[in-house]
Amino acid sequence: VVYENSTTASQAVAKEIANLIRVKQSQKQPCILGLATGSSPKGLYAELVRLHKEEGLSFKNVISFNLDEYYPMEPDSVNSYVRFMKEQLFNHIDILPENCHIPDGTLAKEDIRPYCDQYEAKIEALGGIDLQVLGIGGNGHIGFNESGSLQNSKTRLVALDHITRVAASGDFSGLENTPRTAITLGVKKIMEAKKVILLAWGERKSNIIKASTEEEVTSRVPASYLQEHNNATFVLDKAAASKL
Ligand code: GLP
Repeated sequence: VVYENSTTASQAVAKEIANLIRVKQSQKQPCILGLATGSSPKGLYAELVRLHKEEGLSFKNVISFNLDEYYPMEPDSVNSYVRFMKEQLFNHIDILPENCHIPDGTLAKEDIRPYCDQYEAKIEALGGIDLQVLGIGGNGHIGFNESGSLQNSKTRLVALDHITRVAASGDFSGLENTPRTAITLGVKKIMEAKKVILLAWGERKSNIIKASTEEEVTSRVPASYLQEHNNATFVLDKAAASKL
């Protein structure tokens, strides 16, 4: 779906998420949201905050699972995804802190594997993710599932691609300070989400959007796996859609 700009697109996606939350509330069910970081979902989170403040949208029945976190990473560090989510969304709505899950960047290495298995088990126990929000890396990564990630990959510790580290290096004031690894939800759990919405804005995403949607399904471009998802939508602005 192509919108005039990222603001109108973000408003439409926020409306869809708000509807889902309200439907689940009326059914007395939790709403399981998969959430993303990066610049792409910022407008969406701002609109959800507005709906909370101005239209009384409650997030008390929302249980969220974020896609990823750098490793190692302290939660209160400026570049942590914990901090990002608090600043962009959680601090401004009525979601319960115990319902917000973000991969833990402080674990000892040997604890990561069991932790990732538990992260997936929690999602499974709730019946899976109702709606997964995604951004896309310039190389086609989703979460931190870099090129080469398999379609059945599990939640795990991954090595970040050079291109991903270069893209993040501005935030970390230099490549030498940029983490080399991260914990990411695997492609399998993303593909199991009942609905997936991938957000991409701007000319710089146009080539990878074309590769993800109009070219072959390949592990080189993990976002291309979404062609095989039965309820995935790419929400784009005109510039991101310009090569289609
Ligand atoms: C990071 C995140 C991804 C995100 C990507 C794109 O790598 N881990 O989840 O999709 O950045 O970021 P942006 O939305 O800023 O282009």
